[in-house]
Amino acid sequence: MNERTVTVFGGTGFLGRRAVRHLRKREFSVRVASRHPDRGHGLFGLDDPQLHSVKANIHDERSVANALAGAYGVVNAVSLYVEHGQETFHSVHVESAQRVAAQARRAGVERLAHVSGIGSDAASPSLYIRKRGEGELAVRAAFADAILIRPAVMFGPDDSFLTTILNLLGRLPVYPMFGRGLTKLQPAYVEDVGEAIARALQRTETRAITFECGGPRVYSYEKFLRAVAHEANLKPTLIPVPFAAWHGLAWISEMLPSPPVTRNQVELMQVDNVSSPDLPGFGELGILPNSVEELLREMLWDH
Ligand SMILES: NC(=O)c1ccc[n+]([C@@H]2O[C@H](COP(=O)([O-])OP(=O)(O)OC[C@H]3O[C@@H](n4cnc5c(N)ncnc54)[C@H](OP(=O)(O)O)[C@@H]3O)[C@@H](O)[C@H]2O)c1
Repeated sequence: MNERTVTVFGGTGFLGRRAVRHLRKREFSVRVASRHPDRGHGLFGLDDPQLHSVKANIHDERSVANALAGAYGVVNAVSLYVEHGQETFHSVHVESAQRVAAQARRAGVERLAHVSGIGSDAASPSLYIRKRGEGELAVRAAFADAILIRPAVMFGPDDSFLTTILNLLGRLPVYPMFGRGLTKLQPAYVEDVGEAIARALQRTETRAITFECGGPRVYSYEKFLRAVAHEANLKPTLIPVPFAAWHGLAWISEMLPSPPVTRNQVELMQVDNVSSPDLPGFGELGILPNSVEELLREMLWDH
């Protein structure tokens, strides 16, 4: 029995809830920290004595300190995809990421896994990508041996990536591609990334390390669309749409309550999203990653 507690900020999110489940399978006790703990109760139930949902806001020092009290490890899987009011890429991905790391150090937390993304770069012209890069540096400055987890774009049955593509491929007479569809992608299964987080926290080695979690195949965006269409038995007409047009569309779409496309998504689609061969990834953690095709076969045909 493992008595060590891991606090997962963002533990109710798309990735965070997987990290929570994989940590529990490895017998860590888990504190699920988010602004809406009721969602945690709904997701995980109330009958696991080793799993607690707590209310926490990473913008608030005291709330972060309370969520970390007595913890062995911490995972920061908080996201922000569209800026609004005080919630900016800087406040969430740099300031609050630094706050979690500094408070963790102060509280004597031994292991910190900070979730960022492949391509994070403090020198990028894209505000989002730059803030993710600055966030990684701020986390390492506050917690030198932090584990950085950089997932590629993730897919899962409840995602907003693959399911949107699948829906649109089935409905639209022509499918508008990002640019000419040449950007390289290496989509990772969200369960594999959740497992990677759990295994990274369990490692006995404590030096600073960055894991880039990319799936088993690299596709051009066009090839990816064709692979998804093939599994769904669809024959779409794909048309190139310039990135400038996507930026305009995303700017307008961000005014909607649930924007179908955001500017940071468009910016991310302008640069290849592929894991570096020089950095450790799923292989070093002993994980054989699942492919999009495998999940699609399960989703589309096995039911
Ligand atoms: N999804 C992808 O394909 C992808 C790819 C690469 C990297 N990533 C990175 O992976 C991480 C997780 O992304 P995701 O897609 O799983 O995010 P998500 O589904 O949007 O979940 C975000 C989580 O953070 C919590 N949260 C948001 N603001 C908070 C705050 N101020 N204080 C405490 N909790 C807060 C949310 O719960 P409440 O709203 O209840 O607080 C929720 O649990 C992010 O760093 C993201 O950039 C994602």
